[in-house]
Amino acid sequence: MRNEKVAFKAFIVNKAAPNAVIREIRERTLDDLPPGDLVVRVHYSSLNYKDALSATGHPGVTRKFPHTPGIDAAGEVVLCSDGSFAQGEKVIITGHDLGMNTAGGWGQYIRVPSTWPVRLPDGLTLWESMALGTAGLTAALSVLKLKRAGLKPRDGDILVTGATGGVGSIAVSILAAEGYRVVAATGKIEHADYLESLGAASVINREQLTAEAEKALLSERWAGAVDVVGGMTLAAVLKSVRYGGVVACCGMAGSPDLPINVYPFILRGVSLIGIDSAQCPYDLRMEVWQRLANAWKPQHLAGAVVNCSLEGLEEKIQVILTGKMVGRVVVDLIGC
Ligand SMILES: NC(=O)c1ccc[n+]([C@@H]2O[C@H](COP(=O)([O-])OP(=O)(O)OC[C@H]3O[C@@H](n4cnc5c(N)ncnc54)[C@H](OP(=O)(O)O)[C@@H]3O)[C@@H](O)[C@H]2O)c1
Repeated sequence: MRNEKVAFKAFIVNKAAPNAVIREIRERTLDDLPPGDLVVRVHYSSLNYKDALSATGHPGVTRKFPHTPGIDAAGEVVLCSDGSFAQGEKVIITGHDLGMNTAGGWGQYIRVPSTWPVRLPDGLTLWESMALGTAGLTAALSVLKLKRAGLKPRDGDILVTGATGGVGSIAVSILAAEGYRVVAATGKIEHADYLESLGAASVINREQLTAEAEKALLSERWAGAVDVVGGMTLAAVLKSVRYGGVVACCGMAGSPDLPINVYPFILRGVSLIGIDSAQCPYDLRMEVWQRLANAWKPQHLAGAVVNCSLEGLEEKIQVILTGKMVGRVVVDLIGC
């Protein structure tokens, strides 16, 4: 593996002009990869909303082209120059700069700093780790932070927005496993059965949340929430959280804005907790992966996942960008 000319397949995004993005699968060699201590043979990656933004040239995610997206990767170490990992060790890499401006998991090899990976915990396969991926890490971080803020199952209903998406689906599953009564809000009410199979006690149409959202405050309804949508949805959620409730803000599938007043915070003592998975410190990241490999591993994980080749990504990118994604997509880098 010292041969820098080893060839492999990668999904390449290029920008011919600001609005002309070309996506193709090309052969690359190890010397096309950035410097780093660790070379990993990627077995699986996944598709996240951020990957779709990178693949369509969104400058808020990726500035350097040509580029290989993929903020998640799981595979085997083939070379580690500082000795922190042994050859053949199975690792998971999510976040940091992977797939943003560092060539990511949609290529069969990556080279990254040896501080980025975590060892695959017992209880997870490489495939399962990518079925969870950044979405799983984010959902689990959100639940952990809600629990550490004192939220208990007896406090009342917990709302999950964007519930059929990657983060939302896994959040529903983990909260239900922890004994919370979960209300799943979705724009795809036809997938209510899927959400109930994950553990949702009740499923509501997302439009119900934002009716009357302009009011200063709304009736107290939720003990807590995991929000992936942002915008008017998050504002309405905050206005309808009960006294002392907690909301984990982890996404902006609807909007990055937050049109809110201070009333939920100063009249009801509501807390808003920010969630970032990309730069999550190592110890916390390891703790969350351990939980995902054990009590928080979704029972019906395989049923919430579609497998996809590099060639199949083009279609899936359009699905996730139009908000139509249900569950998770695992990208197979072995069979390609
Ligand atoms: N903080 C972090 O570290 C972190 C990590 C991962 C992801 N994220 C963010 O979390 C969000 C979700 O990521 P994901 O990977 O789960 O994406 P995803 O699989 O596409 O799920 C997003 C879901 O949000 C809902 N949605 C989409 N567009 C919407 C709109 N315009 N208005 C209201 N709801 C909408 C849809 O669910 P329904 O049809 O069921 O409503 C959709 O399935 C993204 O903004 C992503 O960038 C943040």
